[in-house]
This record gives sequence, C-alpha cells and structure tokens, in this order.
Amino acid sequence: METPVPDVVGHYSRGDLLQRLDAALADDGVDPAHPSLESLAPYDQFHGRGLEATTEIAAHVQPGAGDHLLDIGSGIGGPARWFAQRFGCRVTGIDLTAEFCDVADQLTRRLGLQRQVDFEVGDALAMPFGDAQFDGAYSMNVSMNIADKAAFYREIHRVLKPGAWLLLSELAEGDGRPLDFPTPWAASQEASFLSSADQTRQGLRDAGFEVLQLHSTLQQAKAFGARSRALVERGEKPPHRAVMLIHGDIASQAIANSGRAMQDGRLVPIEVLARKAARAAA
Ligand SMILES: C[S@@+](CC[C@H](N)C(=O)[O-])C[C@H]1O[C@@H](n2cnc3c(N)ncnc32)[C@H](O)[C@@H]1O
Repeated sequence: METPVPDVVGHYSRGDLLQRLDAALADDGVDPAHPSLESLAPYDQFHGRGLEATTEIAAHVQPGAGDHLLDIGSGIGGPARWFAQRFGCRVTGIDLTAEFCDVADQLTRRLGLQRQVDFEVGDALAMPFGDAQFDGAYSMNVSMNIADKAAFYREIHRVLKPGAWLLLSELAEGDGRPLDFPTPWAASQEASFLSSADQTRQGLRDAGFEVLQLHSTLQQAKAFGARSRALVERGEKPPHRAVMLIHGDIASQAIANSGRAMQDGRLVPIEVLARKAARAAA
C-alpha cells in the first residue's frame, strides 16, 4: 500500500489570502497598493522570528549584484524580496502552493521588484531548473514538510553551481518526544517530517555538501517569544503576524504548540550554512 501524500497545499491555502493581507495592511494604516518592504515584513516572512531570522542567515553570505539565488519553498516571497533589495541580486522562488506564488507575484509588482524577483509553482523535489544554475540558495522553514530529505538535498545540490552556498533555517527534532498538533507547518503528525540536527548534517554531506556551520537558535527564539508576549500584554500587535494571517483560526493553537515544544526540548530551531564543493581542478 502506498504511503498517503500529505496535503501540503491544503494546509497552507484557503483561496482568499490577498484579501486578508490587504485588510491587515489597511488595519496597520498602510495603503495595500503601495506597501514598503518593512510594512509587509510582519506578514510575508512566514517562518520563526520573521525578518529577524532572514537578516541573521543572510549575514553568513555576501551575494553580488550579478548573482542569481534560489529560494526553495518561497511562500509569499518576503525573504526573496528582502535578499533582492538588500544585495541587488536576482532571486527565483519555487513553491508548491500556487496561491502563495500568485500573492508573491502581486506583492513583488507592488514593490516594483519584478525585474529582480520571480516565482514558479513547483515541487522542491523535482525543480524545473537546469543543472548548476544558481549562485546560492536558501530555504526557510520548508524541510518540515518534506519526507524525503535525501531527494530534497540532492535536488538542491544539482541546481547549484560548484562552490555555491546553501542556507537553511528550519525546525529540527529535539529529544524525540511527539509534538502536539496543529503546528504552523502541519495539521497532524502524518504531515510533519522532522530530522535531528545530526541527521540534517549527515544528509547534507551525503548529498555532496560541506557543512560549514550548524547551530541552534533556541535562545534567539525564546527571546523573540518573550518580546512578542510582552507587546501583546501591553495591547500592541506582535512583530510577527504571518502565522495568524495564513492560518486564521488554528494559528493561536499552532503557535502555542510549537512554542511549548521549543521550551521543553522537543523542537530545536537551527541554522545551517553549507557549500557545494568547487569543481576539482582538471
Ligand atoms: C512555513 S512556509 C515558509 C515560506 C517561506 N520560506 C518563508 O519563510 O516566508 C513553508 C512553505 O514551503 C512550501 N513547501 C512545502 N513543501 C514543498 C515542496 N515539496 N516544494 C516546494 N514548496 C514546498 C509550502 O507551500 C510553504 O509555502
């Protein structure tokens, strides 16, 4: 019997995201037709600690303006637009969820970044890109949806140029005890695929990457959570509102479940910097 494929798109997509985002921006006092990168950041950076985490992983690399980067599981495109604006480079995002790619395109046009940033609907395990095409790649909070990590790392390795870098920011399995669901990435255990930090390191090596750094960002996550709670207690909006926007009624439960798992050791946020080996000299 075949293993059922989890409905990733059904988990993330409801069909009315752009209308809900525009309403949220208007409530923030932002004209939805003319947002800034900063005004979108609470919503379009759909991963733990939002823009703070994007800024942090980007500090490991220095793409040039002529570089072409790949964002794997690009969501509604906040990280792609941020990399493009910060480094002046080109970024292509790929994501399984068509609604996210549509919203990503619309927001990119509103910011006038469409010549630098584009999005394709597609599967990270079979990307519609040639071999050795990208100068660097990153993926933020995506691998938890992917069961076949070996195929995931192999496919990223294939599309990177020799010597290109890979940044991952994701949630790793902690002490192995089960999580409570929903979480922001999965409605149930059957749709959640976590690797430990050691398995991640080994999986990347098996695919041909050199792992230059792999570290926990648990302390940063705890500090971010404490700052957010303090703001909410003062009656202000939390700095990161992407999960609320995208998941609506299950968001509070999902955030509470993953927050508790980080506090008690079941879940560990990690950042990874890896590199595809440069071509051997002839
Ligand atoms: C938590 S969101 C993160 C979005 C984005 N990386 C960000 O940080 O803003 C996870 C994303 O991974 C995408 N995804 C999951 N499995 C995928 C796959 N096999 N191929 C491409 N995208 C995938 C989902 O559609 C979703 O947009």
